[in-house]
Amino acid sequence: MSKDRPKILIIDDEVEVGNFLFHLLSNKYDIKIGYSGKDCDQLLETELFHLAILDVKLPDTSGLTLLAKVKEKYPLCKTIVMTGYSTIKTAVEAIKLGANDYIEKPFESIDHLEDLIASLVDGTGTTDQNTLAKLAEESGFIVGENHVMQQLITMAHKIAKKNVNVLIEGETGTGKEVLAHFIHLASHRREQPFLGINCGAISEDLLESELFGHMKGAFTGAIKEKKGIFEIASNGTLFLDEIGEASLPTQVKLLRVLETGEFMKVGDERIRKTNTRIIAASHVNLSEAVNEKRFREDLLYRLDVVKLTIPPLRQRKEDLPILIDFLLKKQRATLRFSDEAMAEFLAYDWPGNIRELNNVIKRAIALADDDVTVLTTNFLPEKLLQSKHQYTTTTKQASHQALNQTNHQAPHFEEFLHEWNREILSLWATDTEIDLETLLLRVKNLETEIGKAFVQKMLRETIGDRKEAAKRLHISMRKLRYLLNEKGCPKR
Ligand SMILES: Nc1ncnc2c1ncn2[C@@H]1O[C@H](COP(=O)(O)OP(=O)(O)OP(=O)(O)O)[C@@H](O)[C@H]1O
Ligand SMILES: [Mg+2]
Repeated sequence: MSKDRPKILIIDDEVEVGNFLFHLLSNKYDIKIGYSGKDCDQLLETELFHLAILDVKLPDTSGLTLLAKVKEKYPLCKTIVMTGYSTIKTAVEAIKLGANDYIEKPFESIDHLEDLIASLVDGTGTTDQNTLAKLAEESGFIVGENHVMQQLITMAHKIAKKNVNVLIEGETGTGKEVLAHFIHLASHRREQPFLGINCGAISEDLLESELFGHMKGAFTGAIKEKKGIFEIASNGTLFLDEIGEASLPTQVKLLRVLETGEFMKVGDERIRKTNTRIIAASHVNLSEAVNEKRFREDLLYRLDVVKLTIPPLRQRKEDLPILIDFLLKKQRATLRFSDEAMAEFLAYDWPGNIRELNNVIKRAIALADDDVTVLTTNFLPEKLLQSKHQYTTTTKQASHQALNQTNHQAPHFEEFLHEWNREILSLWATDTEIDLETLLLRVKNLETEIGKAFVQKMLRETIGDRKEAAKRLHISMRKLRYLLNEKGCPKR
C-alpha cells in the first residue's frame, strides 16, 4: 500500500459494517478497522488518521467518548459518527461536540457516503461554508457575528440534508420561520413544496381537514375532495408553526402520522402514506409544556430529534448593525441611522426581537421625507427612547449634558433648564471675573436646543407628522429641519 494514501479509521462492533466499508473504500484509502473502544485506543496510538468513522454504540464505550479522544489527540482528524435510528439524537449530539457529520445505518445512498468521505478527506470542507453563506442569503437569514447563532446555523446546515424532524424554539420574532425555510432550501427537498400551517390559528375541525384533506361529502360544505398539506408536501417540508398551541386531540393525530408515516383523509377509509419532513416551531418551551401536561411527551420526542433554539435579539446585540443594514436595504432605503439613534437601538431590550426591529425600521423610513438622509432619534418610537432614559440616565448625566450642550431628549428637558438656571444664577451671584462672550455664545446654542426640544415634543404628539408639527409650532418646514440639525446647521 502506498504511504501517501489518506488513512481512515473505522470503529464498529458489527463486523459486516467494517467489511462493507473496507470493500467500498480500500481502493482509494488505507483502512484500519477496530471493533471496540479498546481497539480504537490502540490504533490511535500507532497511526495518524485523516478521518475516523465511529459507531455510536459500542460494547465497551460510546462513540461520543471516542470522538472526544480523537479530537483531543488529533484536532485536525475529521470525524463521522455512524448511527441507527434509535441513536439519532446521540448522533446529533456528536455534531454539537464537533463531529463533522453523521451517517445513518443501514446506508441508504452509497454515492452520498463516498462523496462525504471524499470531501472530508480532501479538506473541501471550506466549500461547505460558502454554500452555507449562499443559502443563508437566499433565504434572507442574516447570521451575524454572534457565536451561538453561528453554531446554530452550522448545525441547521448539517442536518438539513438528513431526513430528521426538527424543532425550532425561540421567542416571538426571533426568526423561526426564516430558519425553517433555510433548512428546506439546504435540503434535498428544495425543489418540492415548503408548506406551513399555524396550529394555533385554525379551529379544531378545520385543522384536521387542512392537515389530512377530506373526501367529497365528508361534512357539510365538503363539496369536493381536497388534499391536505401532508399530501401536498409529501416529498417536501411541512412547517408546523406554533405547535405548542395544537389541541390535545390534534396532537394525537399528529403523533400517529409521525410514528407511522400514514394518515387518512377526513371521511375516507383508505390509508395514505406521506414522506414529508416536519419542522415544528414554538415560542413556548415545550418541555415545560410537557411538565404542565399541555403537550404530549411522545409527540415532543418525535419532533425534537434535532432541537434548534434561536437566541433572543437582546443576547446578540453585536449583530444589530448588520441586521439594521440588511433590513434597511430590504426596504430599498439608502438611509442610515444617526449615531444617537444607533445608541438607542443598542440600549433597548427588543422583546419583539427581529420582527420588532423590522417594524421600527419600516416606521422610520415611512416617516422620513424625501430629502432626509440620516434617520435621527426623532424617527424612533417613544418606547425605544424611554428605555434608555429609564435605565441609563441619571440626574448627574443630565446636568453634565446641559453644561456641555450636548443633545438631549424631552424627559431631560426640565433638568436641563434647571441646570442652566442654576449656572446662570451662580454666575450672577459671583463677584469674580466672568467670560461674558463665551456665556452669550452658549446662550445662542441654548436657543437651538430649546427649539429642538419643542420640535421633538411636537413630533411625538403628531406621531411623527412633520407638516402638522411645523404648523402647530408656527414655523416653516425648513426651520423644523434646521432645528432638528438635519440640514444647514453648523455642527456644534
Ligand atoms: N436572522 C434573520 N435575518 C434576517 N431577517 C430575519 C432574521 N430572523 C428574522 N428575521 C425577520 O424578522 C421577522 C420575523 O421572523 P419570523 O417570522 O421568522 O419570526 P418567528 O420567530 O417565526 O416569529 P413568531 O414567533 O412571531 O412567529 C421577519 O420579517 C424576518 O424576515
Ligand atoms: Mg413565526
